[in-house]
Amino acid sequence: MQIHPRIAELRTALSGAGRVAFVPTMGNLHDGHIALMRQARAHADVVVASIFVNRLQFGPKEDFDKYPRTFENDSARLNDAGVDFLFAPDEREMYPSPQRYHVEPDPAHVNILEGAVRPGHFGGVATVVLKLFNIVQPDVALFGKKDYQQLMVLKNMVRELALPIEVVAGETIRADDGLALSSRNGYLSAAERAEAPRLHRQLAMIQRRVGAGERDFLRLETEATAELAAHGWQPDYIAIRQRSDLQAPQGDASLVVLGAARLGNTRLIDNLEI
Ligand code: PAF
Repeated sequence: MQIHPRIAELRTALSGAGRVAFVPTMGNLHDGHIALMRQARAHADVVVASIFVNRLQFGPKEDFDKYPRTFENDSARLNDAGVDFLFAPDEREMYPSPQRYHVEPDPAHVNILEGAVRPGHFGGVATVVLKLFNIVQPDVALFGKKDYQQLMVLKNMVRELALPIEVVAGETIRADDGLALSSRNGYLSAAERAEAPRLHRQLAMIQRRVGAGERDFLRLETEATAELAAHGWQPDYIAIRQRSDLQAPQGDASLVVLGAARLGNTRLIDNLEI
């Protein structure tokens, strides 16, 4: 695997490389990221990953400096997964001067769900991803469904700005008990780890019942929220939404159920398409 910290060198290395699949990350990789790298291989001649902890997507109360930086371990895992190129810029390379031009996603897409508790987050994500796309110029880009709202925002950005990139979604990778893999799982105590799959079980229950024809979405959301609260969680939301824009369901739109809740000091998110 070639590692390139500089934009110009990466561009030279990629010129004439053929069809490029790109997986952007902020490092601190787990098996979900590695599954995306392997999936990327099926879409292209070369696989490019990036590791860059993007300051723009952190709010003033979120600790950008404390985000885990595990470069040695991450680059070894990417190499083992068969990634061809790793773009690993530092802050000065990506933001040599303060970034004054930004992507501004539709507020209806970003002021809800995760965006309601992280103002400005998805604008920061969209801005860095557009910049990374301009640097790497991929044919295909892969993002996990675990961050469903991020995936939705980026799909809409690509479509509305007519970027010549196919966005491919990777399935969420789960532990045997259903818990979605996330770097945050490492913060759970043993007792919290045993409790954590309840979030997935509640979403799966809603998936089953809506699949079986139930249409009282508010009741399903309220029941699942109460069940989590009864087991010591602090739920932020359990929401049945349409997949395309995460707005309230209309007509026969394809649906997804999303959940976010705090267990102790750890905030977990998950979702299931219905
Ligand atoms: O999902 C992430 O790790 C980040 O939001 C991304 C897409 C790499 C942008 O910084």
